[in-house]
Amino acid sequence: HRRSGAAYSLTIHPGPARAVARPDETLLEAGLRADLALPYDCRSGGCGVCVCTVLNGRVDLGPYQEAALTPAMRARGMALMCCAVALEDVEFEVEGVASLSPGQAQALQHWQGRVQRMERLTPDLMRLFIALPPGKVLNYQAGQYINIILDDGAKRSFSFAKAPPDPARPAPSPDDGIIELHVRRVEGGRFTTHVFERMQVGDHIDFEGPIGRFTLRDSERPILMIAGATGFAPIRSILEDAFRRGVRRPIQLYWGARAADDLYLQDQLERWQAEHDNFKYVPVLSGSADEDSWKGRRGLVHQALLADHPDLNGYEVYVCGSVRMVDAAVPDFLSHGLAEDFCFSDAFV
Ligand code: FES
Repeated sequence: HRRSGAAYSLTIHPGPARAVARPDETLLEAGLRADLALPYDCRSGGCGVCVCTVLNGRVDLGPYQEAALTPAMRARGMALMCCAVALEDVEFEVEGVASLSPGQAQALQHWQGRVQRMERLTPDLMRLFIALPPGKVLNYQAGQYINIILDDGAKRSFSFAKAPPDPARPAPSPDDGIIELHVRRVEGGRFTTHVFERMQVGDHIDFEGPIGRFTLRDSERPILMIAGATGFAPIRSILEDAFRRGVRRPIQLYWGARAADDLYLQDQLERWQAEHDNFKYVPVLSGSADEDSWKGRRGLVHQALLADHPDLNGYEVYVCGSVRMVDAAVPDFLSHGLAEDFCFSDAFV
C-alpha cells in the first residue's frame, strides 16, 4: 500500500513533538531527521526497541519480524517505528521514554574503509576483510553488525565475523583496524553480486555502525546457539570473544546449512572443540545432497537442538539466521520452556 509523493505530519508523544514524514520514510527516520531522541537499535524490525503505539491515523507496518512485534502487540495498535510508514497524518506514542527533548538523537558513527583482502571460502561465500584508515579502530561488541552504504544510499547489513579488538592487549595490533565480514551470494542481490563479480582489493567501502544487541549476556546459564548459513558470522565473533575472555559456561552450537559445502571454517570449530571442553559443535544439514558422504545430523537445525534439549528451561539461547529460520525457531523454543528474557535473536532477509 505504499503511497507516492505525499508528506504526512507526525505528532509524537510524550511531548507532543512534531515531525514531517517524507514519502516512504519510516516513522523513525522522520523523527530522527527532526532531531528527536527516539529509541532504536537494529533499525531492521528485529529488536523491538523502537516500539510505539499508534493513537490516530493509519500506518503500513512494514517488514517487521514476528518476534519483535507479536500478534498481541499488533492487536493493541503497536508498531515498530523503524519499519512503519505513515499512510496519512499519524499520532503515536513512543514506549518507555519520559520525554523526547530535541537535539539528543543518537548518531550512528560513519566510517570509510578499503577492501583489504577477499577470500572465497565456498563458491557462494566470500570472506571480506575491510581495513579502516591507518590508526583508526572500531570498538564494537561481539555479535553486532554494520550497515554498508551503497552509492544510492541503500544499506546492507553484515555482522562482524571476528572478535572485537582486545581491550586487554597491552599494545594495539595491526589487526585491530581490520573488519571481517562473511558475504553470501544472493541470487540477483545488487551488493552481493558486486562483491563476487567486480569488487577489487583497494575499493572504498562506506558504512555505519556498530549496531545491534545480539551480544552475549552475563549469566550463569548454559548457552545454546543456532546459526543458519552465514548466521554463523556473529556467532563466531561471540565465540572467539568468549573463549578469549575465558568464559567457562557450557556452550553448544548447532549450525544448519543446506549442504556440507555451505559449512565453512570447520577446522577452527574443531580446534575450539578440542581446546575448550565446555564447547560442543553440531553441524546439521537440511538438504538432500551428500547422501553417501554425510554421516552427521539432518533436518532443520532448530529441531535438531530440540531433539537434544526438549526442555529449555534454565538455558540461554542465541539464534541467528534468516527471518524464516528465526521466526520458526523462536516460538518453538518458547513453547519448550525457554524464558523469553533468555532468548536472543538476530535475523536477516
Ligand atoms: Fe526497530 Fe529494532 S530498531 S525493531
